[in-house]
Amino acid sequence: MDVKEQVREKYGEAALRVKSGGSSCCGAAPGSTACVDPITSNLYDAGQIGALPEEAVLASLGCGNPTALARLSPGETVLDLGSGGGIDVLLSARRVGAAGKAYGLDMTDEMLALARDNQRKAGLENVEFLKGEIENIPLPDNSVDVVISNCVINLSADKDRVLREAFRVLKPGGRFAVSDVVTRGQVPAAVRRNMLLWVGCIAGALEEHEYAAKLAAVGFDAIEIEPTRVHKVEDARVFLAGQGVDVDAIAPELEGKFMSAFIRAVKPASKECCGPSCCS
Ligand SMILES: C[S@@+](CC[C@H](N)C(=O)[O-])C[C@H]1O[C@@H](n2cnc3c(N)ncnc32)[C@H](O)[C@@H]1O
Repeated sequence: MDVKEQVREKYGEAALRVKSGGSSCCGAAPGSTACVDPITSNLYDAGQIGALPEEAVLASLGCGNPTALARLSPGETVLDLGSGGGIDVLLSARRVGAAGKAYGLDMTDEMLALARDNQRKAGLENVEFLKGEIENIPLPDNSVDVVISNCVINLSADKDRVLREAFRVLKPGGRFAVSDVVTRGQVPAAVRRNMLLWVGCIAGALEEHEYAAKLAAVGFDAIEIEPTRVHKVEDARVFLAGQGVDVDAIAPELEGKFMSAFIRAVKPASKECCGPSCCS
């Protein structure tokens, strides 16, 4: 099975667990509502959670809160890449108001069904969930003010293509405002593999400078990567020990190197033509 199929299967199962009253957490037992995962838990404040359907909150599988950190204005169009159960789309829809629009894009049918149920329960009409892949966004060029995403780009096997697509659909001056897992500095490959399995079910996080370089290569400006949660070896101990990893031996290689971060960038505004000579 390729990575995309594995991701689709994992998140399809997670959506079905939420529908049957359980937790979306990776590896959660069916029927369990406990999610004590230090990456996905406690990302949203009580005011945000109180305004959402319970299943949208239970299905939250992000690693940050992009809608809290992104600047969103009434009337804007927002696109959430890998929208899952829809939590960030619903929060964005409220922020951009009836004159704005919030799109969620996801490839997993079970997640789309859950998100559309959550939209109905939330009673929001300025929301549309689209089926598709973040590597091939089904929206026209220059049509979106803000691209958000919450812990999804790290799952893609073709991140350059995802970033090119985000750049294409953004309007000139549009913002990229994404929560994602990144790594800091060199990490041995085997350690990296185990730790990333813990972090994101199936994850392929980029090193922070590599992420910034990829954004710059597709044309983004004003790139900033701000750590929001640095993950501790202790939090991963039980998972890693279960994989047969000698946690004490690798701990020095891990500390401070895996983090959730908020990534900002801007698509440059197009140059205004001021006369026959100054646009050429
Ligand atoms: C970690 S969950 C995050 C869901 C949501 N952003 C949240 O914060 O709860 C990843 C979601 O992205 C979707 N996804 C992963 N890779 C994708 C891809 N290449 N194209 C479209 N959707 C994808 C999965 O189906 C899943 O719903």
